[in-house]
Amino acid sequence: MAQRESWATRTGFILAAVGSAVGLGNIWRFPFATADGGGAAFLVMYLAFIALIGFPAILAEFVIGRKAERNPVGALVAYGGNAWKYVGGIFVLIGVVLLSYYSVIAGWFIRYFLEGFRGSYASHLTSYNGDAQAMFFDISFGMESVILHTVFMALTIGIVALGIRQGIELAVKVMVPALIVLLVGLAVWAFTLEGAGAGYSYYLSPEVGAITANWTELLPAAAGQAFFTLSLGMGVMITYASYLREDRNLAKDGVTIIGFDTGIAFLAGLVVFPVFFAGDIQPDEGGPLTIFVGMTEAFANITGGQILGLVFFGTVVIGALSSAISLLEVVTSYAIDEKGIERWKAATGVGVLIYLIGLPVTYDIIFLEVYDGFIDAVLLVFGALMVMVLVGWVAPKAAVDELEKGIGDLGTTAQAWVWAIRVPIIIVLVVSLYLGIVEYLDVLEAFSEWLSGN
Ligand code: PHE
Repeated sequence: MAQRESWATRTGFILAAVGSAVGLGNIWRFPFATADGGGAAFLVMYLAFIALIGFPAILAEFVIGRKAERNPVGALVAYGGNAWKYVGGIFVLIGVVLLSYYSVIAGWFIRYFLEGFRGSYASHLTSYNGDAQAMFFDISFGMESVILHTVFMALTIGIVALGIRQGIELAVKVMVPALIVLLVGLAVWAFTLEGAGAGYSYYLSPEVGAITANWTELLPAAAGQAFFTLSLGMGVMITYASYLREDRNLAKDGVTIIGFDTGIAFLAGLVVFPVFFAGDIQPDEGGPLTIFVGMTEAFANITGGQILGLVFFGTVVIGALSSAISLLEVVTSYAIDEKGIERWKAATGVGVLIYLIGLPVTYDIIFLEVYDGFIDAVLLVFGALMVMVLVGWVAPKAAVDELEKGIGDLGTTAQAWVWAIRVPIIIVLVVSLYLGIVEYLDVLEAFSEWLSGN
């Protein structure tokens, strides 16, 4: 077998991991998750989750991947024994389902981006009598959605087929800096909007009462959002760390990656909420549509909205692509390592399968809720829990040894990491998982109603 690939440069790995983390989770999902959770109360819970659980969790995935130098299935087996191949199998499956709908949403963003070339958002809205929601439903489903989903998956497959250095690493070196520059520019512009202040205060002034009163909803929502946005719980960070040759300081890398991801989500909030409030739009009404409906209305009302809208939607597409390649890489690396399939064949084969699974979402939005709810509230939390059990209970010694490579003796800090995982983190995750499942049952009920109505 050919020698396993590796990152060409130190920054290549960081940028790829940041590129994976930063995506629709930060710009599409974070604003409506925050709005659903009541604004700042959610933000506090989410930030706590990122720091206290996201950081130990990303380290856990890193050590598993770097030591095993394998895809998630092979890596979990290397750590925990053969029975863990089932958990690894679930990780690969999560990658398949997650990318399937992720690509459809990315296609919607491409569509909104293209609209910016066809004329102003105001003129598009006029043809729907000013109803941005009607516009969304009209342009986001059916044949056009299928075509854009095809385009996005083709791009993703193309990059992954080119491999780690020639494909992923090169792509993220362009995409990640571009994304950051564009978002900073947008945030500065949002600051100048009249009425932006109300957006900031909605976003940034938490009420303690709201946090404690709603914790059973906030906890699973924050957990799901934290794992989603950090690309944790399904093996992306395992896979990316498996291409590391040198023994780097994984704790430092983890802080850098989390710092960028959180900073960019926060920045996205600094764009979206002022824009909503400036445009007199209630952020908590639309769920997954929020960003499309709200931003379109806002771009229709604001001077220069056409260019700004184009830049905004284009920025999201860049972020989505650098995340999509990481999802496809998980599944592709599995096919390469475990089934001995050549890279380009593996990427194309699984890519097409994923594409087909995404098609229902181009037909009706209910499928988006069924897919996303399952991944987010249930599977990613489950996946992260499994990683924690593996590192905390099954193979803590191997994990600590691996973490210390590139850092040096960690002494009691390493023990603190293991014990934080063993008890408090696992308890929080079990509770989150339970609450997430309960919530997901509502989604399934809505789905079965939809089915009987169709
Ligand atoms: N982190 C990505 C985002 O925020 C989504 C993702 C989740 C990617 C899980 C890979 C794995 O958009």
